[in-house]
Amino acid sequence: MVQREQWGTRMGFILAAVGSAVGLGNIWRFPYMVADNGGGIFFLVYLFALLTAGIPIMILEFGIGHKYRGGAPLSFAKMNRKFEWLGWSQVIVCFFIAVYYVVVIAWALSYFYHSFSLGYAGDPAGFFFGNVLGLTDGPFELGGIQTQLLIPLAIAWAVNFFAIYTGVKGGIERLAKILIPTLFIMVVIIALRGSTLPGSAAGLNFMFDPDFSRLFDFKVWTAAYGQIFFDLSICFAIMITYSSYLPKRSDITSNAFTTCLTNCGFSLLAGIAVFSILGHMAFTQGVAVNDVAGAGVGLAFVTFPAAIATLGSVAPLFGMLFFLALALAGITSLISINEAAIAALMDKLALDRKVVTVIYTAVAASCSLLIATGAGLYILDIVDHFTNNFGIVFGGLIQVLLVGWFFKLKSLQDHINSVSDIKAGSWWVFSIKIITPLVAGYTGIMTLISDIKVPYENYPQEALLVMGWLVLAVIVVGGFLVSRLKWKDKEVLLIEGVR
Ligand code: PHE
Ligand code: NA
Repeated sequence: MVQREQWGTRMGFILAAVGSAVGLGNIWRFPYMVADNGGGIFFLVYLFALLTAGIPIMILEFGIGHKYRGGAPLSFAKMNRKFEWLGWSQVIVCFFIAVYYVVVIAWALSYFYHSFSLGYAGDPAGFFFGNVLGLTDGPFELGGIQTQLLIPLAIAWAVNFFAIYTGVKGGIERLAKILIPTLFIMVVIIALRGSTLPGSAAGLNFMFDPDFSRLFDFKVWTAAYGQIFFDLSICFAIMITYSSYLPKRSDITSNAFTTCLTNCGFSLLAGIAVFSILGHMAFTQGVAVNDVAGAGVGLAFVTFPAAIATLGSVAPLFGMLFFLALALAGITSLISINEAAIAALMDKLALDRKVVTVIYTAVAASCSLLIATGAGLYILDIVDHFTNNFGIVFGGLIQVLLVGWFFKLKSLQDHINSVSDIKAGSWWVFSIKIITPLVAGYTGIMTLISDIKVPYENYPQEALLVMGWLVLAVIVVGGFLVSRLKWKDKEVLLIEGVR
C-alpha cells in the first residue's frame, strides 16, 4: 500500500476546490439565470439554496473524503458496501460531462484566438453556428469532425492531461495556484471596465432588479436548486475525491464555507462583467437590454461577442480577456471532473496514476471527438439536460438519503466537528436529512414528469432515447455492474479514516 497523495497547503486545496466550482456555469449560466428568474429575488432564493443544500452538502462531502480517504466509490464502499454503486454512477456522470465540457472549452479557446482580429464581430450568429460549429440540421446528422476545433481541443486535453499526470500536489494544485488568481484578476478588470461604460446601469438593473411577485414562483425555486449542484460541483464524486487528499488536520466546515462563498462571489462578479457590457451594447444600439440578452451558450458565444465589438479600440483586448477567462475557468473544472474518475479507477484497480491517466485520457478524448462534429451542439444539449436534471439531481438525492437515513450520520458529524472550528449542528443535520431530499426529490420528479409529457426542446424522440434516456440507463446500470467487480487490493477497504 502506498501512502495516499496529499495537498501541499490549505490554500492549495481551497484553490483547487474553487477551481472546480468556478467554471463555465458561473460565467454563462448564472448571469442569465438571475435575469430570467426574477433578478434580485432569484439571488435571494439562490442564497437560501446555498445555505440549505450547497454548503451542507459541501461539508458532507469534504467530511466523507477526509474521513474515508478514497475517491467516491471507495469512500462509499467503506461506509457501506451496498453504497459503492452510487460512487460509480457519479463517476460515470463525470465521464459524460467531461466529454462535452471539454468541447465548450475548445470553443472558448477558438474565440480567444479569433479575438485578435474580432473575426466574430461581423455576423456573430453565423460565425458561431457556421464557422465554429458547422452545425447540421439534426442530432443524427453528424456532418463530420470540425477540423477547426481540433487544435483548441488538443490544447484543452493536453493541459488537463499534464495537470493530472503530474499528480495532486505537483500538477493540480500547482496549476490552480496560478490559474485561479489570474482568473479573478481578469474578471475584475472586465467588470471594472464594464461597469464604467455608458448604459451599464441598465444592464445591471436588468440582471438584479427584484421582481417580488416571483418569490413564491415554483420555477424560480427549481432553477435555484437546479443550479446549485452543478455550480458547486457537488453530488458527483468531485469534492469527495479532492477532500480525500486533505491532510489529517484540516478544518472541514471553514474550508466548505470558503469554497462555496468564493464561488458565489465569482458568479456575482461575472454577472456584473457580462451584464454591464450587454447594457452598453443595448445603449449603443438604442434598444432595451431585454432585446439583446439571450440564454445559455448563445449568451457567451453569440450575444457577448457582439457586445465586445461595441467596445471600440479595446475590443480585441477585452475579447481575449473574456474568452481566456472562460477557458481557464473551464479547464480547472475539467481537471476536477477527470480526476474524480481517474482516482476512482486507481483505487479500484490498484494501478499507478500515470497508467490510468494515459488510458483514461485516450478514451475520453476520443469520445469528445463526437461532440466536435456538426451535430455536437445538439448532442451536448441533450446529454447536458439529462445528466444535470436527472443524473446529478437524483444522484444527489440518493446520496443524501443513503448517508442521512441509512447510515449513522452522527458518526460523520462527530468526525467533522472534531476537526472544525465552526460546528456542523442541527441546521446541518436538518438540511441533509429533510430539506435537500424534499426539494431535490420534488424538483427532480417535476422535471421528469414534464420531460415525459413534452420532449425536451422538441428533439426527435429517437435522439432523446439514445442521448438522454440511454445515457441515464448507462449511469445507473453501469454503476451497479462496476460495483460488482472485485477490488484489486482488498486492503484499501479496511483502512479506516485518518483517525
Ligand atoms: N462547477 C462548474 C461550473 O460551475 C461545473 C462543473 C461541473 C465542474 C461538474 C466540475 C464538475 O461550471
Ligand atoms: Na460554479
